[in-house]
Amino acid sequence: MSNIRHFLTLLDISPEEGKRILERGISLKAQQKSGQPHRSLEGKAMAMIFEKSSTRTRISFETGMFQLGGHALFLHSEATQMGRGEPITDSAKVISSMVDIIMIRTFNHAMVEQFAAHSSVPVINALTDLTHPCQILADVMTFTEHRGDIQGKTVAWIGDGNNMAHSWMNGAATFGYTLNIASPQGYTVDASVLAQAQANGVHIHICNSPQEAVQGADLVTTDVWASMGQEEEQKIREAAFKDYQVNATLMACAKPDALFMHCLPAHRGEEVSAEVIDGKQSVVWDEAENRLHAQKALVEFLMGVSI
Ligand code: CP
Ligand code: NVA
Repeated sequence: MSNIRHFLTLLDISPEEGKRILERGISLKAQQKSGQPHRSLEGKAMAMIFEKSSTRTRISFETGMFQLGGHALFLHSEATQMGRGEPITDSAKVISSMVDIIMIRTFNHAMVEQFAAHSSVPVINALTDLTHPCQILADVMTFTEHRGDIQGKTVAWIGDGNNMAHSWMNGAATFGYTLNIASPQGYTVDASVLAQAQANGVHIHICNSPQEAVQGADLVTTDVWASMGQEEEQKIREAAFKDYQVNATLMACAKPDALFMHCLPAHRGEEVSAEVIDGKQSVVWDEAENRLHAQKALVEFLMGVSI
């Protein structure tokens, strides 16, 4: 099983592979737009295991497999035997014996690692509490389309030290950007993810304020204050994050041509003001669409389709 390529974090791909995947994503997007068939995965099946809600991730993987000539099975874990306690290890062996690739969205990152360790086909992390690497592929692809290579550019992360923040940290090694992070006290990024990312010699700065983090930024990005599974903390988090809204005043401290991104779903009036997310610097709709194109390239890459 050692030759199987999984995508559990961005650390699973090299900078050269990251570049190739994004170039392929851009080319697949052009093919899709021009109506050119690109059925590289004819006869192949993907199992999509969800333990959390999703709009973008489900639609992008399911449609992506269809466009590549393959098939995707939506499996809500509650409707499978996993929901009734069948061991992850047994489920991984069985499911991977029948499909060609698997994506999983769940809570505990260790579940995805355990599943991958017992899978005979590639496993994609489609979001855990710890990371959300597929989103960064789409985000970097979007930056590239609007501004060119992200290498050497500065990304500002404002808000929760959550799965998205961790994936921006891991992606700094893959894509070569500088990352400035500003989070409220008590909601900072995971120290071990930071140490692991920094071991790769990346430029990650933990800043004292959102204003400091956005100085010189080419891209400003944020996420909800309470992620899936943290709904009960909403009120307490609203108080802790009140000075961490990305609004026009904060965007004015970044570079004049800075882009704004958000993985979505967004809460206008909380982590981002309506004027920013619906304004000229926002590229959130391209970002969402690019989940489709970037992930089609990722699936081809993991399945060893020559690209
Ligand atoms: N950004 C993202 O992963 O969206 P969904 O939760 O809708 O899949
Ligand atoms: N941090 C968010 C991302 C959603 C795509 C969450 O985990 O809910």
